[in-house]
Amino acid sequence: MSAHLGAPPSSPPPVPALECQDLSRSFGATRALNGFTMSLPPGEVIALVGPNGSGKTTLLLILSGLLAPDSGWARIGGVDPVERPFEVHSFVGWMPDFFGTYDDLTSLEYLELFGAAYKMPAAQSTRRARELLSLVRLSDKSSSPVHTLSRGQKQKLGFARTLVHSPRILLLDEPASGLDPRARIELRDLVRRQRDEGVTVVVSSHILTELEEMSDHVAFVDAGQCRGVHPLSLLPHGGAARRYKIRALNDVETPLRAAGVVFERISPDRVVIETINDESAADILARLTSQGVRVIEMTPVGGGLEGAFLAMEQGDRA
Ligand SMILES: Nc1ncnc2c1ncn2[C@@H]1O[C@H](COP(=O)(O)OP(=O)(O)OP(=O)(O)O)[C@@H](O)[C@H]1O
Ligand SMILES: [Mg+2]
Repeated sequence: MSAHLGAPPSSPPPVPALECQDLSRSFGATRALNGFTMSLPPGEVIALVGPNGSGKTTLLLILSGLLAPDSGWARIGGVDPVERPFEVHSFVGWMPDFFGTYDDLTSLEYLELFGAAYKMPAAQSTRRARELLSLVRLSDKSSSPVHTLSRGQKQKLGFARTLVHSPRILLLDEPASGLDPRARIELRDLVRRQRDEGVTVVVSSHILTELEEMSDHVAFVDAGQCRGVHPLSLLPHGGAARRYKIRALNDVETPLRAAGVVFERISPDRVVIETINDESAADILARLTSQGVRVIEMTPVGGGLEGAFLAMEQGDRA
């Protein structure tokens, strides 16, 4: 005979999902969100990708019940964050892009404090804090004051903090900023593990290649609007041409221009070139190096998230 004991607090919800309709929010004359409409599938990792100032943080603040929109509505896990913010806080884990740390506390005490804030009894809060330190591989730092942790370790502690109350939806705002490659891989694995346990994860970042590895869907955000949600496997491509990102230690643009190669600058030391096939790309690389360009990276970006992001930006300029 089995007794029904009720669902444990960490059990997944029936239908976790996010939805918003015509959300608008201004700060003075700035329209941070301008009729933002989006619906996200449950139980997946969704990348929120968009340029600086496009409204990602504003959206995440509204979804987590910390900021009210001027108009429009949102539902997270079926709950309206404006009407029932405390209920939203009970099942949503929010990791801000910047969070203060209580520097005099040890890592363990820091997590225990959040357990207490969620009204956990002291013993349970300590147990959960130890469990999370182990999950993010910081057990050896449990007695270390938070201020002695490295930046990456602080980020991991911040991630652990968002998990204290076993949320079923995670909203992570630029969680990987400032992390070295190894720490990013660890974070990616932690996010995937949450997803595998049925948690819906929305993650914003500018590190596109890393989002590509951890995400199932991508939602493009631009000028306060959602420009589409795509399964990662079905991303729109940037066109028929082969595209390569080139990173160089010195000027690459002058030789490219002289050779009549179509290119676009994406940062001071990076360009994206367009060629007709791999042979032509190899020829361009040989030409650049023979002319003294110190190329340190050349990678195809014709498909996937980075290609789609660049395509979106190009579409906007057209
Ligand atoms: N508290 C605020 N006061 C005034 N303006 C704000 C405030 N919060 C956001 N904004 C403005 O709203 C717009 C959207 O900001 P938001 O932080 O949502 O963008 P973002 O997509 O998160 O950018 P980033 O990628 O740089 O983090 C920006 O123009 C920003 O300057
Ligand atoms: Mg932001």
